[in-house]
Amino acid sequence: MCGIFGYIGKKDPLKVCMQGLKLLEYRGYDSAGIAALQKGELITIKEVGKVSILEEQVNQLDLQLDLAIAHTRWATHGKPCKKNAHPHSDAQSCIALIHNGIIENFASLRSKLEKKGVAFASETDTEVIAQLIADHYKGDLLSSVHTTLSELKGSFAIALIHKNHPDTIVATSRDNPLAIGFSNDLSETIISSDPNAFLGHNLNVFYLKDDEIALVGRDSIEIYDKRKKKIEKKTEKIQAESISFSKEGFEHYLLKEICEQPFTVQKVLVENLAENGTDAHFPQLPFSSRELKKIDRVLIVGCGTSWHAGSIAVSLFEEMAKIPASCEIASEFRYKPPLLSSNTLAIAISQSGETADTLGAVRKIRERGIKVVGICNVKNSSLTREVDGCIYLHAGPEFSVCSTKAFTSQLTLLSLIALFLARSRKMSEEEGEVFVSELKKIPQKIDEVLKRSSEIELLAKKYSHFQNFFFLGRRMMFPICQEAALKLKEISYLNACAYPAGEMKHGPIALISPTLPVIAFCQNEQTYEKMISNIMEVKARGAPILAFASQGAKGLSSIADDLFFLPSCPDLLSPLISTVAGQLFAYFIAKVIGTDIDKPRNLAKSVTVE
Ligand code: AGP
Repeated sequence: MCGIFGYIGKKDPLKVCMQGLKLLEYRGYDSAGIAALQKGELITIKEVGKVSILEEQVNQLDLQLDLAIAHTRWATHGKPCKKNAHPHSDAQSCIALIHNGIIENFASLRSKLEKKGVAFASETDTEVIAQLIADHYKGDLLSSVHTTLSELKGSFAIALIHKNHPDTIVATSRDNPLAIGFSNDLSETIISSDPNAFLGHNLNVFYLKDDEIALVGRDSIEIYDKRKKKIEKKTEKIQAESISFSKEGFEHYLLKEICEQPFTVQKVLVENLAENGTDAHFPQLPFSSRELKKIDRVLIVGCGTSWHAGSIAVSLFEEMAKIPASCEIASEFRYKPPLLSSNTLAIAISQSGETADTLGAVRKIRERGIKVVGICNVKNSSLTREVDGCIYLHAGPEFSVCSTKAFTSQLTLLSLIALFLARSRKMSEEEGEVFVSELKKIPQKIDEVLKRSSEIELLAKKYSHFQNFFFLGRRMMFPICQEAALKLKEISYLNACAYPAGEMKHGPIALISPTLPVIAFCQNEQTYEKMISNIMEVKARGAPILAFASQGAKGLSSIADDLFFLPSCPDLLSPLISTVAGQLFAYFIAKVIGTDIDKPRNLAKSVTVE
């Protein structure tokens, strides 16, 4: 979950690296640092906090640099502080090194070096790598790095520089993405955790495979495989689109992205609905129509919000296509016995395409010869290179760590995949037409909710003094409760949990009290009456109640303390509407509290470590 960036070329390495770090800051923002060589001298500057704090320091210095590497950190080993910020050096300050990943055997390696008298300056696993390379270094940088890699256990993406090699950046990786992009005339080369940080450069890009080592020079790039044999790499041209960073007048990226949802949902519909208005089309699915007909199970894997989207999709596949489906938390699935058949349609959902646990689950599924379809929002991300077919959300960059527009785009896409499978089986053209016409109304219905944001803001203010929240829902509304609770936790740091309303009586109802507000999502006709009884049960025990229900729903106004009516829609599509209310509720509570809404503490946009 850290961001790595390096530059060697004719431009100002400092400026290019600062811009690169800003593009990578979504990967972690506990601290940031830069190391550079200036006339053979190693310079290292690092600061706690966001990249802008480092930039203030750097801009005060008059530096004429030859090359630079830079890093933005999400702490794994050692708390976020200056001494644990990257880059890290060896005791003689000859090497500066930045790292993303986790070195699992760093403690034993560190004690071995300490026994040789090596003094450490930080608590990080990263410093062990720098010290180890220095320990092996006898003048041959490639060999010292190669020997060090053979001793490391765990995952890493590394860039390092050495004062005795003023024209070289060394890069290597294992189980962690590291992209290298160079201009046609080799006048500049950029190293980055994420090729989307190559903003504004049209580069030839390749990715290092496990334990490959790149020696990036001023006008040459040498690649060595794990046996230290020189190899060539296939490149692909990446035209890094210009990404607008503007909040366009919104106070936070999060609110901007919530308000983009009518458009982003509409985009998914336009891109994937079939002309006939009764079906969807997915040429990206790596299956023949015969193979599609044989699919007898859908397995979905994901994490966090993506897992919530998959949990809702289970009902879509089962109710529309009559195919048994399940959705697994990727970090759990990886350690379960894989009971998979060749007729399984596996779907991996990841907005960033870099979530380590989801990538691990994909590898586990593919090792068994099962094809995996990715649903992703970031081109050239790791997921897109590891699946058999990838369907993009095209939702545009999600700058806020808290995922919103990606979630509703995922739900829309999954609805269309379910429609596609259903129509290839028993769903009639008429049924398909009805479903599509309801789907087409969703963007406008989301817009109706957005237009009433001020009412939700008033409700949020009323409930913002509570420290704990209980979200209740049934069927499609239960994963929506989980998603709403996650939003609230992420951006307000308040405790929020979600429960299937029918489960309350099996224990959790003991928690109910006047200090525990219940937020009930009732936009599910099939279970609405049951929700009413559950709400009465918590009402009888004094809980304050805020309920979200479809326009025209009866029986709640005399029970709920507060009631917000949503545009009605079929149960299967209700998550797309209800979730917007949950997003706004969380946003406005966080605004009252005054947290860092777009970059909440302890979080990062993509979790690239396990
Ligand atoms: C969502 O708001 C969170 N930021 C988090 O749960 C996120 O959904 C999760 O880390 C998965 O990320 P991905 O979709 O990029 O794989």
